[in-house]
Amino acid sequence: MKSFVVSALVLCVLVTKAESASNAVAWCYHLPSCNFSTWSSIAAPFCNGTRQSPIDIVTANATFNANLTAFTFQNYNSTSALTKIENTGKTIKVGIASGVTVSGGGLSESYDSLQFHLHWGNGTAVPGSEHTVDGKQFPMELHIVNSKSSLNGNTTLAVGDPEGLAALGFLIEALPSNVTESPEAWKNLTSYLQNITQKGQSVTITDPISLDSLLDGVSLTNYYRYNGSLTTPACNEAVVWTVFNDTIKISEDLINRFSTIVRINGSSSPLMVNVFRGVQSPLPVQRSSSPARISCSLSLAALSLALWTS
Ligand SMILES: *[C@@H]1O[C@H](CO)[C@@H](O)[C@H](O)[C@H]1NC(C)=O
Ligand SMILES: *[C@@H]1O[C@H](CO)[C@@H](O)[C@H](O)[C@H]1NC(C)=O
Ligand SMILES: *[C@@H]1O[C@H](CO)[C@@H](O)[C@H](O)[C@H]1NC(C)=O
Ligand SMILES: *[C@@H]1O[C@H](CO)[C@@H](O)[C@H](O)[C@H]1NC(C)=O
Ligand SMILES: *[C@@H]1O[C@H](CO)[C@@H](O)[C@H](O)[C@H]1NC(C)=O
Ligand SMILES: *[C@@H]1O[C@H](CO)[C@@H](O)[C@H](O)[C@H]1NC(C)=O
Ligand SMILES: *[C@@H]1O[C@H](CO)[C@@H](O)[C@H](O)[C@H]1NC(C)=O
Ligand SMILES: *[C@@H]1O[C@H](CO)[C@@H](O)[C@H](O)[C@H]1NC(C)=O
Ligand SMILES: *[C@@H]1O[C@H](CO)[C@@H](O)[C@H](O)[C@H]1NC(C)=O
Ligand SMILES: *[C@@H]1O[C@H](CO)[C@@H](O)[C@H](O)[C@H]1NC(C)=O
Ligand SMILES: *[C@@H]1O[C@H](CO)[C@@H](O)[C@H](O)[C@H]1NC(C)=O
Ligand SMILES: *[C@@H]1O[C@H](CO)[C@@H](O)[C@H](O)[C@H]1NC(C)=O
Ligand SMILES: [Zn+2]
Repeated sequence: MKSFVVSALVLCVLVTKAESASNAVAWCYHLPSCNFSTWSSIAAPFCNGTRQSPIDIVTANATFNANLTAFTFQNYNSTSALTKIENTGKTIKVGIASGVTVSGGGLSESYDSLQFHLHWGNGTAVPGSEHTVDGKQFPMELHIVNSKSSLNGNTTLAVGDPEGLAALGFLIEALPSNVTESPEAWKNLTSYLQNITQKGQSVTITDPISLDSLLDGVSLTNYYRYNGSLTTPACNEAVVWTVFNDTIKISEDLINRFSTIVRINGSSSPLMVNVFRGVQSPLPVQRSSSPARISCSLSLAALSLALWTS
């Protein structure tokens, strides 16, 4: 118990430290002087690098890699894994308790899930995902940030390791417009936004929201993989990216909450909108399963079923 508390404290200190280090360069999303088109000059040497994220995923160019097997998610079904939700002034970030991990999926070792946060545009009308697929940008994107377990939460080491971080990216799409306040996990999560309208505010999550419930409906075996970077300064090239093929589907009213409730600073500052980096130069992308093989084995299964039942 004691060592748990100590390591939790150390983790908090480290995360805070890493954030103030990246806040050293005054970057932003909304001003011409510091928006993402300036980052390669104001936040060199990494934001001007050669494996920068996000990218457009050209599905026809993704090569099949049989090593990209299923992930093992530990405690993603826990209803007490989400700690607090915070307005950082740049995003909405949710802390994840220790003991939540991800492994498999072609990753070289186990990674600890530290936090997730979101990127969005301006409601359902203006898309704000970071990754795009065949040129299509989605309304929102969820990023689960994981750090190599062997680095024990030392974020300095993680951002200096070409595979120090593993990010899981989920594209978010709107449900038909006659559906509201759905799904329940996202209704619960977004209900906290009214309590963190200003930068620096945070509240403890008390609803029993599991990570699995937020990812409901997504096939976790069907994904794209590439080597990239953090999508905010300092843009360290330390991230193994996984972007899932399926989207999370959320009702429009909940998507619209993000762009209408939280602000980038105090109560009279602008609403937090268009919080994403635009796509960077193309990088080689692999995929976990060949659609051709899926449909082939499906039709084989259908055929054998037909023969068997006849
Ligand atoms: C960023 O600022 C530049 C001017 O520096 C402007 O041309 C561009 O449209 C802005 N981009 C975004 C996404 O706001
Ligand atoms: C990025 O900027 C740094 C510092 O200005 C420079 O040393 C480096 O060569 C640049 N990298 C690329 C890929 O242009
Ligand atoms: C995709 O592949 C085509 C043909 O091989 C190539 O011309 C194109 O540049 C590739 N696009 C990307 C984004 O990698
Ligand atoms: C798959 O993993 C094996 C064993 O680690 C390795 O030799 C092989 O190169 C990998 N294949 C691909 C396509 O990365
Ligand atoms: C989570 O899944 C594990 C493994 O399948 C299972 O043992 C555990 O009981 C589940 N926990 C909850 C809270 O559902
Ligand atoms: C966002 O959309 C609203 C209307 O839905 C509009 O009033 C506002 O100006 C937009 N904000 C930006 C920064 O484009
Ligand atoms: C992280 O690791 C580096 C290199 O081993 C070390 O210098 C630094 O003190 C570590 N940071 C913390 C807070 O443990
Ligand atoms: C929404 O509309 C679709 C078709 O227009 C209908 O099938 C569905 O039942 C409606 N859903 C709700 C929640 O009203
Ligand atoms: C949403 O919150 C309510 C109230 O705390 C709880 O009963 C319910 O289980 C939660 N559902 C999900 C999916 O988070
Ligand atoms: C969040 O705000 C609502 C309404 O403004 C309030 O009733 C509720 O107690 C607050 N919750 C927390 C956790 O601060
Ligand atoms: C990522 O980098 C590693 C190490 O260089 C390499 O083995 C792997 O094939 C790369 N993955 C992709 C998807 O390019
Ligand atoms: C990937 O997602 C697209 C769009 O959501 C869907 O149409 C397609 O069936 C999915 N591909 C596979 C192999 O599941
Ligand atoms: Zn992100």
